[in-house]
Amino acid sequence: MINILFVCLGNICRSPMAEFVFKNMADEKGLTQSFCVRSAATSDWEVGNDTHRGTKEKLLQKGVPMEKRAAVMLDKSDYDKYDFIIGMEKQNLVDIIKIVGEDINKKVYSLLDFTQNPRDIKDPWYTGDFDATYDDITKGCSALLSYIKANCLDVQNF
Ligand code: 4NP
Repeated sequence: MINILFVCLGNICRSPMAEFVFKNMADEKGLTQSFCVRSAATSDWEVGNDTHRGTKEKLLQKGVPMEKRAAVMLDKSDYDKYDFIIGMEKQNLVDIIKIVGEDINKKVYSLLDFTQNPRDIKDPWYTGDFDATYDDITKGCSALLSYIKANCLDVQNF
């Protein structure tokens, strides 16, 4: 079992989108049982709130299943619980390290670092552009799955 935690600032736009997109990709490959996937925020601003309407609309449009959820804040104890802690932008990584401490086991990544074109995923809370966010997140999740296939021996049945 590989434990993945996607992280963004509020845990209502980007990281839940990544959570649902990655789960759906794993399900479609028959890998549901190989992963535990969750998401969390670096702030407490939206704790308890469901996924943002813009993210929900995009996932609905793309046929990606989602569930009602409540935003949670990243906790120091998450560092031991997860194998991958994946932010959406450089500032997320700075904030993640502030919460969990030094990344001694090299678990903290930025999602697009797994692609050929590493860069930040813009925050649709500010841009309103959920299409661009979805495109970046699907590219990142696909590249992450390929990385895990190449590097994590636990996943046998790709
Ligand atoms: P997210 O976007 O980090 O992608 O969930 C945001 C959600 C809420 C806020 C900022 C960013 N906020 O200011 O409440």
